[in-house]
Amino acid sequence: MLELKQLKRVYASDDFSSFTAVDNVDINIMTGDFVSIIGRSGSGKSTMLNMIAGLLRPTSGKILINGADLWSMNDKDMAKIRNSKIGYVPQGLSLLSNLTILDNVRLPFYLDKRKDNGIDRAKKLLEEMRIQSLAQRYPAQLSGGEMRRVAIARALVNNPEILIADEPTADMDEETSEEVMKLFGRINSEGITILLVTHEYDITNYGNRIYKMSSGKLAEKYHLSESKTMY
Ligand SMILES: Nc1ncnc2c1ncn2[C@@H]1O[C@H](COP(=O)(O)OP(=O)(O)OP(=O)(O)O)[C@@H](O)[C@H]1O
Ligand SMILES: [Mg+2]
Repeated sequence: MLELKQLKRVYASDDFSSFTAVDNVDINIMTGDFVSIIGRSGSGKSTMLNMIAGLLRPTSGKILINGADLWSMNDKDMAKIRNSKIGYVPQGLSLLSNLTILDNVRLPFYLDKRKDNGIDRAKKLLEEMRIQSLAQRYPAQLSGGEMRRVAIARALVNNPEILIADEPTADMDEETSEEVMKLFGRINSEGITILLVTHEYDITNYGNRIYKMSSGKLAEKYHLSESKTMY
């Protein structure tokens, strides 16, 4: 469902030289896969995810979503794919500070024209994240781990086909982080494809395919049959 073909991103450096953050990456992700990517800080993981999420234009190469070339679409088609097929939990803090937690979660839902207001769906996801009691607070009144759980709920509100998450358990204690990983496992077993990036030190081997990113290059570490997916 998601194919990267010779995907590359070059950044200009301060001294007129250039730096290749993502270097000709090829990967073919199937529906139902749970792909984990580990790698050292600076190896290019977030750069790659930002290109897949439609936020950063590749220098060269292609991103195909169900066969459609993401970066050759017009703005309207791209926005539609981003809002309906992809759930993205970016690295760092991404909540809107002047919206309540409940409204932050239902924002992507609200951006699509429909009859419902998304409140029930947003509440259900907050419950799954065990933060339903925070619904009427504002982001500044939450801990880092709580904000991250809100961002995960927000990424799921439109029932995406693929959930992409960049170090989603950063800032979480071990117990909460295990709970969130179990939730990713459950979401995956319901048929949603998962692409997860973790920092090298918190490698816990989730998923059926594990990749390692080093200096912009992506290499497969192992590939288990689906029945052996580890959660
Ligand atoms: N806008 C930018 N301009 C120039 N260089 C950048 C830019 N964004 C990122 N980089 C560089 O590209 C490299 C890869 O960054 P990236 O954020 O993709 O790493 P990462 O693997 O996600 O690291 P971390 O685990 O710390 O999040 C880093 O060396 C970073 O300094
Ligand atoms: Mg990163």
